[in-house]
Amino acid sequence: METIIFDPVKHKSLLPSLVEIHIACIENDFTLLRFLPPFPPEKRQTVLEWWESRMAGITSGARIVIMEVANDPDGKQEACGLVSLERDPSETGSYRANVQTLLVSPRYRRKGIATKLIKKLEEVALEDKRSLLVRYYPDVMNQIAREQR
Ligand SMILES: CC(C)(COP(=O)(O)OP(=O)(O)OC[C@H]1O[C@@H](n2cnc3c(N)ncnc32)[C@H](O)[C@@H]1OP(=O)(O)O)[C@@H](O)C(=O)NCCC(=O)NCCS
Repeated sequence: METIIFDPVKHKSLLPSLVEIHIACIENDFTLLRFLPPFPPEKRQTVLEWWESRMAGITSGARIVIMEVANDPDGKQEACGLVSLERDPSETGSYRANVQTLLVSPRYRRKGIATKLIKKLEEVALEDKRSLLVRYYPDVMNQIAREQR
């Protein structure tokens, strides 16, 4: 396994496994992540397009996506988990960044991947002088999602 800073050009082939993680977290964990189940092929395509639309933010530097990758049983590289550091372009908020989209594939849970991703995110944020990291509390949101089902 390896931790990488996602590069939209170099790591384009990992996008389908990102979509799989995104959908798995919605289906298995009721995570509120923009889309609601079910996920027939056309909806999966919409999720893929949403990820593609986020690439511009990575290229511009507004977003840094840190990812854990591994080889699948066929030896092909796949994403196991990710976290996103959203950098506020505000002139008065350059010390702050939002932590979003901490997702680990159900197939790779409880192996310390989320811990590793957050540690790397903190290093990247500090290098960028972002000393205040802000995040939402998904456990509360997940509870709401469960109740609404
Ligand atoms: C939450 C999540 C990111 C954890 O990923 P992970 O790689 O399994 O986490 P780690 O292995 O680094 O676990 C670190 C610690 O978090 C806690 N933890 C992780 N999953 C937990 C769970 N399901 N229930 C309770 N505690 C949990 C534990 O304290 C764990 O340490 P331990 O294994 O020594 O007990 C993963 O379960 C996930 O993707 N969930 C769905 C999406 C989500 O809710 N994301 C949150 C932000 S949007």
